[in-house]
Parts: sequence; C-alpha cells; structure tokens
Amino acid sequence: MVAIAPETILPKLLLSAPAKLNLFLSILGPRDDGFHDLESLVIGVNLCDTLTASRTDDGQITIRCNRRELESPDNLVVRSAQRLQDAYAVSSGVAFHLEKSIPVGGGMGGGSSDAAAALRLCNELWSLGLSDVELRRHGASLGSDVPLFFALPGAVITGRGDVVQPAPLSWTGWVLLVSTPTPVSTPAVYRAWSQTPETTPAARWRDALLGAASAELIMEQSFNDLEHAVFEVAPQVRQVVDTLQTGHVGTFRVSGAGSTLFRLFDDEETARHTAGIIEDEFSNLTTKVVTAPVGVSPIRTQE
Ligand code: C5P
Repeated sequence: MVAIAPETILPKLLLSAPAKLNLFLSILGPRDDGFHDLESLVIGVNLCDTLTASRTDDGQITIRCNRRELESPDNLVVRSAQRLQDAYAVSSGVAFHLEKSIPVGGGMGGGSSDAAAALRLCNELWSLGLSDVELRRHGASLGSDVPLFFALPGAVITGRGDVVQPAPLSWTGWVLLVSTPTPVSTPAVYRAWSQTPETTPAARWRDALLGAASAELIMEQSFNDLEHAVFEVAPQVRQVVDTLQTGHVGTFRVSGAGSTLFRLFDDEETARHTAGIIEDEFSNLTTKVVTAPVGVSPIRTQE
C-alpha cells in the first residue's frame, strides 16, 4: 500500500476575492492621524483574484503567486495571516497560493480584498471561530479598504474607509473596465489631493442611490474627488480618459485612487460592443466586461 503524505489529505480551502469600484467618492478632509476622512459608495464587481490556503504544521506562512514580485512577506495576505497567528497564539502555519486577476495599483482594492479573503480562510483553517465583526476589526488595522470587503455587494464607507455600512443597490448590470498600464500609489494620490483639495458633498448622491437608478443616471451623477490627484500623479491616466472622450465611447470614471477606468451599462451587448471599439482603436488599452454588483462567495474546499 502506498502511504499518503499528511499534506495531501489536509483540505485546501479556496476563496474568490472580488474587486471593488467607488461609484461616488467624497474626500472630506485630512485627519490628525495622517489619513483622510471620506464618504463613498462602493460595489463589488465580478473580477476576482483566487486565494487558496492549506494548513501546515510547521508554523510557517508562505505564499506562491502567479505574479512573482508579490511573493513577499509584505504581501497583505501574509500580513493578515501573521496578524491572526500572533493575536491568537496559533501554532499552525498556512501555505497560500494567490492567482491575481485584479490590476495592482488600479484603485480596485485587489490587495485589500485578498487580505479579507486571507482573514476568512485562516479563521476557518485554524478553527478560530471569529465573527465577521472581529475579522473586520483585524482588517482595519491592515488597511483602510479591508473592512469593506466584508460588506459587499454594496456598502457606504466613512471614516478613513474603515466604517462600513451595507447599502444594497437597486441597480444590477455590466461594467466595462479599461486598464491603463500605470500602477498608481495611493499615498501619492492623497498627497496630491491635499495640495488642491476638492470636496463634492456626499448628499448629492445619497438620494439618487436609493431610487431605481439606471447605469446612465449613475454615470451622470458619479464623481471621484481623487480623480484630479490621480491625473496629477499619473498624467497617462488623464490622457486615456481624454482619448476615450474623443473616441465617442462615453464618459469613464477613475475608481478610487487608482488607474482603472470604468463605465456602467444596463445591457451586456452595448458593454461588449463598446469594449470592441476601444480594443480596435486603442491597441495599448485592455478591456474587460464584468457583472456587478457581486458579493463575497462562500469558502469552498478544493480536492
Ligand atoms: O489604509 P491604507 O494602508 O490603504 O492607506 C495607504 C495610505 O493612503 C495611507 O498611509 C494614507 O497616506 C493614504 N490614505 C489616506 N486616507 C485614507 C486612506 C488612505 O490618506 N482614507
């Protein structure tokens, strides 16, 4: 009889980590702790990283990734596991595999979503029995955007982004994402905002949000107070927005502090048609059409 190595019978858990978009983002002002107060409506979109995790007995936390430069102890996935291991004196370790699809530095919260997924996976693997509220609290200490990934498909976030209230949107549809090949640094964007602050009252979108909104209505009313700061830090992103405008493919918004542009559609056909025009006319741009809003899926076991 062939002996089965213990690691082959340990379950491997798998979780999809969705990206987010900020449909509206008001920056209210700087805080004493170096962060900025904000108010934003975020939705989950069906562009997901995939994180798998297996428990190990050696106490080590390791990560493999399809993007080798992210195989680092600084990766939020590793830091999330470390946080729980330290807080609850866990003697087991974990081996992660991360398959990245969400652009890095694209303003879609990929790293934060991976961190939220890592917290949930470790909670399960190590049988910690922590509630989402407790996991969210650990998440907030790892990054401002981590807690929102416990409240999707839609959430209003306040404070530095860490105060989260679920906000189910009545709209469902498709999102056309346009990736520019320019990762943007979040601290640099907030610094640029501080030099020429712009605050759009959040009240402007609060009412509109509650009604049965169409994609067009949301696009008309959407805004991002960080947009000018993103353009300042990464002028290439402004160029792409201008180019799309002159290409008559409609208005695109920047998500969060990043470089990914988005436009909402009520029907898939128009979204895909527009993506086709962009890909044909602008060979340096990558497009993706995804559904939204999406929530977080349950943890699955991989054989
Ligand atoms: O919380 P997170 O690590 O994602 O923040 C990265 C940086 O972005 C912070 O150090 C801060 O410079 C800036 N930031 C901010 N206000 C926020 C969120 C982030 O100034 N609400």
